[in-house]
Amino acid sequence: MSGAPHISVMRDEAVGAMEPPRGGTFIDGTFGAGGYTRAILDSEGASVIAIDRDPAAAKTAQAFKAEFGDRFTFYAGAFSELDAAAGGRVINGIVLDIGVSSMQLDQAARGFSFMREGPLDMRMASAGLTAADAVNYLPHEDLIRIFQVYGEERRARRCADFIVRAREIEPITTTDGLAEIIANALGRGGKINPATRVFQALRIFINDELGELYRALLAAEQVLAPGGILSVVSFHSLEDKIVKAFLRRRAGETAGRSRYLPPDDSDVVPPSFTLGNRSARKPGKGEVGSNVRARSAKLRVATRTDAAPWSTDEEKLLPRAPSLDDLAACVRRAA
Ligand SMILES: C[S@@+](CC[C@H](N)C(=O)[O-])C[C@H]1O[C@@H](n2cnc3c(N)ncnc32)[C@H](O)[C@@H]1O
Repeated sequence: MSGAPHISVMRDEAVGAMEPPRGGTFIDGTFGAGGYTRAILDSEGASVIAIDRDPAAAKTAQAFKAEFGDRFTFYAGAFSELDAAAGGRVINGIVLDIGVSSMQLDQAARGFSFMREGPLDMRMASAGLTAADAVNYLPHEDLIRIFQVYGEERRARRCADFIVRAREIEPITTTDGLAEIIANALGRGGKINPATRVFQALRIFINDELGELYRALLAAEQVLAPGGILSVVSFHSLEDKIVKAFLRRRAGETAGRSRYLPPDDSDVVPPSFTLGNRSARKPGKGEVGSNVRARSAKLRVATRTDAAPWSTDEEKLLPRAPSLDDLAACVRRAA
């Protein structure tokens, strides 16, 4: 069953940073329940290209289309494809509100939550490989790495040990089944559910969330018009680290780089972004008090310059971990 509707986090700050009243075309890369999109469309001269890979969001988008007509376009796909979604139009602002929505978390059948009994799914797009595929087919060492890197789980090896032992008896197919295995591995009784980090890790892995974010930043650099504004809300440090490092480099900040190293692109290529604030903005106390999802939110804002996009690839901003291609190969081998 679906629970409470999604409450947008840092909506006024994230949308306001793009200055919709100046008019133009804005991309909302994470449409969800449409909270950000509606706030942009409150400015009459603004139109929105909204993106979401969740088929449930596509349904919400139909109602927006009926309400806003030509000012609203929906692209059903990943936000890493935002250049395709832009379709060559001049883009004045891009906003991303990364992560899962309350609708996704609250629907047991989507399999995101250890609090709800459901299939071990976790796919935002409802297509492709599932979290059950990951726990049943990935080698022990890959599971450890995923729990360490994406979940920052200190006892990753023990979780993987218990999973491998359990799947030898029967496949792990449900959220509560996996939560029980992790509770047996880590014990119960702490302040947070012991399965929290493992579930986070599997969700990030199965949706390639960090790869998506990194490719979206590169695409934003390509499609934003000079003076266009990028506004990104993230919810955990793995995401924020990527946004921060990418924007600081693109803004020409080489702080921390040894002067004994040979010059790199940042020494010779003009900055493609300028930074509004060096540090991330956080939600106010009132918002955190009324919406628990806001607790860990961070907003970073940057303005596109008129310099050409950089050509350097920064894959090294992504932590090294098994990929979905690795999982696909394991599933094929097992078939
Ligand atoms: C936190 S919600 C956004 C809520 C929205 N700002 C609002 O106010 O209603 C995140 C949404 O982004 C979508 N999403 C997350 N990662 C995505 C990606 N890589 N590509 C497309 N959509 C994505 C999810 O399906 C979800 O609907």
